[in-house]
Amino acid sequence: MIKKETVDKILETAQVEEVVGDFVHLKKRGTSMIGLCPFHGEKSPSFHVSPSKGIFKCFGCGKGGDSVRFIMEHEKYSYPEALKYIANKYNIEVEETEVTPEFKQEQDKRESLYIVSNYAAKFYADRMWNSEDGKTIGLSYFKERGFRDDIVQKFELGYSPDDWSALLEAAIKDGYQQNFLEDVGLVVKNDQGKIYDRFRGRVMFPIHNFTGRVIGFGGRTLKTDKAVPKYVNSPESDIYHKSNVLYGLFQAKKAIRDLDNCFLVEGYADVLSVQQAGVENVVASSGTSLTTEQIRLIGRFTKSITILYDGDAAGIKASLRGLDMILEEGLDVKVVLFPDGHDPDSYVQKLGASAFKTHIEKAKKDFIFFKTEILLKEAASDPIKRAGVIREVVESIAKIPDAIKASVFIRECSGLLQMEERILISELNKMRLAKAKKDSQQPYRNSEEEPPIPEEYLVEKPIETDEYQEKDMIRVLLIYGDQMVNWDGLTDTLIGPYIITNLSDVTFSNPLYQKVIQYYHDELENGYVPKEKDFIQHPDSAMASMAISMISSPYVLSDNWYSMHNITVPNEVERLKGTVMGAIFHLKKKKVTTMITAKQKLIQEEKDEANVIILMKEYLELKEVERYISNYLGSVITK
Ligand code: CTP
Ligand code: MN
Repeated sequence: MIKKETVDKILETAQVEEVVGDFVHLKKRGTSMIGLCPFHGEKSPSFHVSPSKGIFKCFGCGKGGDSVRFIMEHEKYSYPEALKYIANKYNIEVEETEVTPEFKQEQDKRESLYIVSNYAAKFYADRMWNSEDGKTIGLSYFKERGFRDDIVQKFELGYSPDDWSALLEAAIKDGYQQNFLEDVGLVVKNDQGKIYDRFRGRVMFPIHNFTGRVIGFGGRTLKTDKAVPKYVNSPESDIYHKSNVLYGLFQAKKAIRDLDNCFLVEGYADVLSVQQAGVENVVASSGTSLTTEQIRLIGRFTKSITILYDGDAAGIKASLRGLDMILEEGLDVKVVLFPDGHDPDSYVQKLGASAFKTHIEKAKKDFIFFKTEILLKEAASDPIKRAGVIREVVESIAKIPDAIKASVFIRECSGLLQMEERILISELNKMRLAKAKKDSQQPYRNSEEEPPIPEEYLVEKPIETDEYQEKDMIRVLLIYGDQMVNWDGLTDTLIGPYIITNLSDVTFSNPLYQKVIQYYHDELENGYVPKEKDFIQHPDSAMASMAISMISSPYVLSDNWYSMHNITVPNEVERLKGTVMGAIFHLKKKKVTTMITAKQKLIQEEKDEANVIILMKEYLELKEVERYISNYLGSVITK
């Protein structure tokens, strides 16, 4: 783990506008800076950076956080990776603490697997460039297929010698442990306990994760013998999970983001050829059908996928359904077919880069239209089949989360399907309704997603609760807690401690807020007054994201609530005393009112006369408190 002092230093040094500025073009506007949000496509900027608060916030897609969060989101780094990135940017030396042996072992193991994989990639490349058989067999194969040296190097391609233990022996000699080679499947142990290299006499395609580390391999045979499998692939391991890897993503990710589109092809060879043609935003699903994880992985970089198909009709039909999944994830899907049994690789190698690009532009079709046309062609004039086509097309459109986009497709397809728009719409609505019902029964679709904020933390609750008052109290505490206010013209008081002392008799219904109060209280006991940044950077991510949205938006409460209480938000800072006292007393009043209602209920239900008298007494006391607070609010704060 990174030492706390180092973490503090990194957080103190990082200037959010500099960290973000490396990725987003920012313009100054007032005290903050704005730019186009890198997390969702937009034409006018709704992405704000506040250098003074050290945070960014997009009012379009809602993403927000500090410098570290930005790097985590943008580069898809873990928390420590993001810290190290920033440390590196500012030349801060990273000191790490000793960690538990189990944790270290686990970390060390993964690290070791990366290291042996990297060693193997280097070994195969070295053998291809520097050994006799490597040059005459491996390298000349790539050359024959038309791959330039720079592409072969960019993808770190290599050659595995036709030998049972070339890699194993070299690795052992260089001090690598056999068990790690086994764990990533580079060597295999057979039933007799004999150990041998998995990849022999094949050209090697290292598979990188998107941060560029080698996690697995595909090895292509050079034989035309049909009995030999064309590809041998690394098995799943602790560092290689096929379902969430895309071949070429590391080399393509920058171009994908810059061009805001990702070309999807089938094979390694397609990726290489398309890259070689200067089209760098290309990845491969590596022969398997696309998974949701892979779609989401692309979705982090762009919301637009263009699939480059080889024109095999049966294959296309089979894959149509799988593509609905991309629509469901909210991405735009376009499709390009290649003619005459060409795949992207053979097309570009035969006809050249510019013909390839022209073809893409000419043949590119929106997936919905593509699907409609294919199905219609198949159904010909059979009326029953045509009805089926309509259903299938509307079903796809129903998967599109954006209702406006969906309605545009409905309009266009009504022409293609020769079917009245309103009939398609009513069909669409039926499907959407059914889907909404199904979704509401299983609220969280996928456990891979960020863990949902627990129900009890959800901030939007019905108005009858004390949510608004609690929310405003927390907001005031977060924003003004470390500021001084002069109550009486004589003494300055710190707002945070004042609030905490005054709330000692209040319990928050929202457990997340209660946690904030508890944290604040504990820090005060330690002699520390928490600052905005302590919440923004709080390790409890539910707390951090709540703090960020409160701090970045001045209008947390509904306007209605403000006007109800005659509070004018823009003047809040000048009227700091009123704001603080208002928040405290509105909250207390709400709490007391709730207690009064509860007491009334108890009185009504109580049978024992003596108890009723006690309850009545308590009730009257509460009423007295309520009156006192109301008077106070009326005279001092609101009016
Ligand atoms: N694939 C595989 N195992 C096989 C065949 C294919 O894992 N036996 C995967 C590979 O990732 C391959 C992709 O499916 O890249 C697409 O298959 P194919 O088009 O046959 O491979 P190419 O890479 O295009 O190979 P080539 O053009 O050299 O035939
Ligand atoms: Mn191919």
